[in-house]
Amino acid sequence: MGLLQKILVPFAGLILAFCFYSGKEDFKPGMLKGKHVIVTGASAGIGEQMAYHLARMGSHILITARTEGKLQKVVARCLELGAASASYINGNMEDMTFAQSVVKKAEDLWGSLDMLILNHVGVSYFNYFNRDVGHVQKLLDINFLSYVTMTVTALPMLKNSGGSIIVVSSLAGKVGFPFVVPYSATKFALDGFFSSLRQEFVMQNTNISITLCILGLIDTENAMKAVSGVLKSSAAPKEECALEIIKGGALRQREVYYEYFSTKIPLLIRDWAPNLLDYIIRREYNVENLNN
Ligand SMILES: NC(=O)c1ccc[n+]([C@@H]2O[C@H](COP(=O)([O-])OP(=O)(O)OC[C@H]3O[C@@H](n4cnc5c(N)ncnc54)[C@H](OP(=O)(O)O)[C@@H]3O)[C@@H](O)[C@H]2O)c1
Repeated sequence: MGLLQKILVPFAGLILAFCFYSGKEDFKPGMLKGKHVIVTGASAGIGEQMAYHLARMGSHILITARTEGKLQKVVARCLELGAASASYINGNMEDMTFAQSVVKKAEDLWGSLDMLILNHVGVSYFNYFNRDVGHVQKLLDINFLSYVTMTVTALPMLKNSGGSIIVVSSLAGKVGFPFVVPYSATKFALDGFFSSLRQEFVMQNTNISITLCILGLIDTENAMKAVSGVLKSSAAPKEECALEIIKGGALRQREVYYEYFSTKIPLLIRDWAPNLLDYIIRREYNVENLNN
């Protein structure tokens, strides 16, 4: 047994290292040049920064959110930065007809699609669960069902291009965090749907990659406003976060962790010591500063 362990453990280590490092491609900004990309939730925050990175890389970009004035400004900036083209369509992702029409607009504009970046997130509260089932349902529509609707509508174009779906999720979509109960539920749903779909794509030889992005706290205006004074953790920069998401999608990675250690280590602890992880997470909050 001892001898077996001495041989098996290093051997398993070698195989794992080989699987991890072999065939890894480096990211080059040229990979996105001339590609047709939809970015949702791009009027602000991480989505806006993704649009700017893609513009610098020379992509064709279609952005969407509700606020037309903000989208117009982002489109103008994308054109200044070198986008091959930039357009917008504004509307509410609570409405599945609108979700479909975003993909239809890409089809009308380009006739093809290489990358679908699903990033938008509906407004929620940061506090104890208020038992409002209607809000959970609304958030599921915006954060989950519209992602599914856009994916289904985009499948024919993505199959043709051998394209990519990038799903922006959160550590709160893998681990339970307090004060974001409805939000967390929608992010867990994304993991279930897209991780299962990835399996079926492989089984059916469908050449579409799915990248699920597990993000920690990022310094977007809305996130900072929500958690300030309550959450003790520090936030990572949205510009770098946006770039890491695009890189992961372009390299067809299964999952992106940003920032790597602050998301990956909790996930390692989760399976072996979930109560310890829950305890560590609870200690990160100044509960007395929650808005009443
Ligand atoms: N920031 C963080 O700390 C953090 C952490 C983990 C994961 N994430 C994830 O990263 C993604 C981006 O987050 P963020 O912080 O950049 O968000 P954000 O700054 O709040 O931006 C959200 C975007 O979604 C749009 N949006 C909101 N409600 C919408 C609706 N009903 N229909 C269509 N568009 C809508 C907003 O524009 P309009 O208001 O104009 O519609 C905006 O463009 C989200 O999926 C979020 O869950 C963020």
